[in-house]
Amino acid sequence: MGDRWYQEAVVYCLDVDTYADSDGDGVGDFQGLIGRLDYLARLGVTCLWLNPIHPSPNKDDGYDATDFYNVDPRLGTLGDFAELLHQAQNHGIRVIIDLVVNHTSDQHPWFQSARSSPDSPYRDWYVWSDHEPADRHQGMVFPGEQHETWTYDRTAKAWFYHRFYKFQPDLNIENPKVRAEIKKITSFWLQLGVSGFRMDAVPFIIEKTEPGNPNAPKDFDYLTDLRQHVQWRRGDAVLLAEANVEPDQLPVYFGDGSGSGNRIHMLFDFMLNGRLMLAFAREDPEAIIDALRDTPKLPTGGQWATFLRNHDEIDLSRLTADQRNDVLATFGPDENMQLYGRGIRRRLAPMLGNDRRHIELAYALQFSLRGTPVLRYGEEIGMGEDLSLKGRDAIRTPMQWSYKDNAGFSTAEPEKLVRPVIDKGEYGYQQVNVTAQRKDPRSLLGWFERMIRTLREAPEVGSGSTTHIDVPVPAGVLAHRADGRTGTMVFLHNLGTEDVEVDLSTLAPEADLPIDVLSDRNYEDVGKLDRLKLAGHGYRWIRLCRGGAL
Ligand code: GLC
Repeated sequence: MGDRWYQEAVVYCLDVDTYADSDGDGVGDFQGLIGRLDYLARLGVTCLWLNPIHPSPNKDDGYDATDFYNVDPRLGTLGDFAELLHQAQNHGIRVIIDLVVNHTSDQHPWFQSARSSPDSPYRDWYVWSDHEPADRHQGMVFPGEQHETWTYDRTAKAWFYHRFYKFQPDLNIENPKVRAEIKKITSFWLQLGVSGFRMDAVPFIIEKTEPGNPNAPKDFDYLTDLRQHVQWRRGDAVLLAEANVEPDQLPVYFGDGSGSGNRIHMLFDFMLNGRLMLAFAREDPEAIIDALRDTPKLPTGGQWATFLRNHDEIDLSRLTADQRNDVLATFGPDENMQLYGRGIRRRLAPMLGNDRRHIELAYALQFSLRGTPVLRYGEEIGMGEDLSLKGRDAIRTPMQWSYKDNAGFSTAEPEKLVRPVIDKGEYGYQQVNVTAQRKDPRSLLGWFERMIRTLREAPEVGSGSTTHIDVPVPAGVLAHRADGRTGTMVFLHNLGTEDVEVDLSTLAPEADLPIDVLSDRNYEDVGKLDRLKLAGHGYRWIRLCRGGAL
């Protein structure tokens, strides 16, 4: 293991309420999740990221909290949560939770008090304007579902700011009391034993909102301050942030430019996500090569979190119109598959036509690219989406555990389930479930276990440096390498469908008994690296050499 656990972690993201229901009320819960920790440990997961667990009216799947110091009673009690932390630790699994402090639910007692009177002690915890702001119809995150960012509140007799839905009023981060409260919230959960936070909507948290100014300045020093606090309370705690901004704006989220990473430890690589989808759509790795080249240099300790799917739509807004159209035409051709005019609300398996070879290629590539891989629950068995559900709910259906009723997720009557289980067609639980795949070593689940195990033997990916191998290769092929103190890994991924041969003999002088450690089939030995066969949608992970680890 390297020095920092998160650099060699495998993160698994799940929503407790759709994972496993232990008491038959139709909603997943902590006890259900505890019962599945052995599954997660076997898969090779080392860190869970739990989507919001706080009490909430659940109008935005928990991203609208009413109490940051408690858990949603549907999921269990705080005691159950503490038990989860303990049991996860016994399985060698850390837990991080969503920290959603850009806003609260409008039902939060703070907002209820704030709106009730200008004299409320909580009035200044939110962002108000006594006149209609000129930029009221700008900056919506959910176009189509959200029509404004300032809404008039008749009780308050003032306009309040909400970057997201109108039931999610933004907290006023400029208020020192709000800052102190956020510190207290992080302290509370760290004290209980979480290993850190997935910070929601960071660019908006640090916005110094002013009515009428859609380009409000940002207070990055706030991130330095919060980081220092969190790190002091728990030395190995980590901040994993959602900051979906242009790559050249990202370095300031990692650190203040002094060379030390003194702000966020890890950022999701949204740019890479869009470019991976583009590369798959065009069967051309060029977009990934660009992404590797354009990646800003990170300060020490800074890390990317890679992903193919998360709990939201795939956001294609940072691609050009042509690029976006290519991705939409290939992976989200029906309007019903698209969302907010920028994204796709589908899971990966159906986007790739349930083509097993293609799915393996895609995940082998994600997990081999620099950074810490994040995997969304259900992807490891190739779950599908339910487009009859609204918005992002399509990809938030219950985990499919077995052939039993409700996919073994719950014993409740189907109409009581938090969300319907996918029970029809190619992706129905009768076809796609953990139990079936557990029995079959050739299953996608079996493959994920092997792939993750192999990744754990290749720490260069997480804590080394990754570069494109810039030699002539057949169209469709990406060759890249990861170098670290433990040695060098070389990766070949064929995004095209043709069988090809790749010449990497320029690497021969560095090689020391090079061997395939993961591949889509048994290839001939790598030999002198000059005639590496690679099938259509094939991949080869080759250990080039071992280094003398410190
Ligand atoms: C983030 C979350 C998303 C949520 C939004 C509002 O973008 O990923 O699911 O709706 O923040 O909190």
